[in-house]
Amino acid sequence: MADPRLVSARPIDDDLGFDLSLRPRTLDEYVGQPQVVANLRVAIEAARSRGEALDHVLLFGPPGVGKTSLAHVIATELKAAIKATAGPIIERAGDLAALLTALQPRELLFIDEIHRLDAKVEEILYPALEDYTLDLMIGSGPGARSMKIPLKPFTLVAATTRAGLLTAPLRSRFGIVHRLDFYSEKDLEFIVTRSARILGVPLEAEGARELARRSRGTPRIANRLLRRVRDFAQVRAQGVITAGVAHDALALLEVDAHGFDEVDRKLLLTIIDKFGGGPVGVGALAASISEEADAIEDIYEPYLLQIGFIDRTPRGRVATRRAYEHFNRAAPDGGPGPGQKKLF
Ligand SMILES: Nc1ncnc2c1ncn2[C@@H]1O[C@H](COP(=O)(O)OP(=O)(O)OP(=O)(O)O)[C@@H](O)[C@H]1O
Ligand SMILES: [Mg+2]
Repeated sequence: MADPRLVSARPIDDDLGFDLSLRPRTLDEYVGQPQVVANLRVAIEAARSRGEALDHVLLFGPPGVGKTSLAHVIATELKAAIKATAGPIIERAGDLAALLTALQPRELLFIDEIHRLDAKVEEILYPALEDYTLDLMIGSGPGARSMKIPLKPFTLVAATTRAGLLTAPLRSRFGIVHRLDFYSEKDLEFIVTRSARILGVPLEAEGARELARRSRGTPRIANRLLRRVRDFAQVRAQGVITAGVAHDALALLEVDAHGFDEVDRKLLLTIIDKFGGGPVGVGALAASISEEADAIEDIYEPYLLQIGFIDRTPRGRVATRRAYEHFNRAAPDGGPGPGQKKLF
């Protein structure tokens, strides 16, 4: 479902075409995540020189940080074909069996949102991943029999925003597991600068910095802000995105210095004002701000945790001193500073 928030890390409708044109194609074009890129280079090179299928790859991390992009980059680097699908789309075991049997040697199957795979479908995947065989049950009742079908050596690349929801047997079948993190401001500057070049938008270095700073560590948001600010620059500033233009445009779009929008502000202020700074359970928090608990855990919270505005404790979420300061509120006496686990 499209998310209307400007700084949502989830895709919104007008991202779709742009996401494609701005997607990095090769590991060299893939900005940031140096550890992940370095490890993948070695694994890809090794698999290619042995002429084998790459080990199965699990990529996890918050929305918009480049999981889908990286899956396609891996295919490009391997010079292998890739077929893409998603957990919720594969309804029956037979659907997955059809996908798997169609794969040629060393081809890639990309399953997005793998945490949403149906349990019965997932079972088919275990032997397929382990020894490239399909174990199918034909018929049912006393006459049922199992049939083994050999598969070509293939690579599953799976992506999820919720690695914690994967079952242990599934997780253990990935030889290569990487967490993609939020990006540094430098990386995001680099990404918007490249995107501006592709889109033919004049973007000054200071303008790029301003966009990077407010993108919540997320390339998808950086690219989206670039497009919106471009519109503003065209109408108000002869097309050039300077620091001033970026600043004014983002103020008009109500994206603040941290890239917070009203949902972030509502979430933080609810913890502070309604729950006395916390701890508050995610369910209660979700109900108070009329959002889904899942959305809080997947989308809003990771970044607020990362920048030290909230902490997670066994009894729920707490607002840190940094959050109080952001809203010019006095933190309760003896309250924790950013990053500390002590409760109010
Ligand atoms: N490392 C990167 N370098 C350059 N651009 C990037 C990078 N990662 C992501 N992007 C940009 O961000 C956009 C969104 O990335 P992508 O769709 O791969 O994210 P995702 O992690 O798959 O998100 P979701 O969880 O919503 O599926 C891409 O189209 C691309 O333009
Ligand atoms: Mg994706």
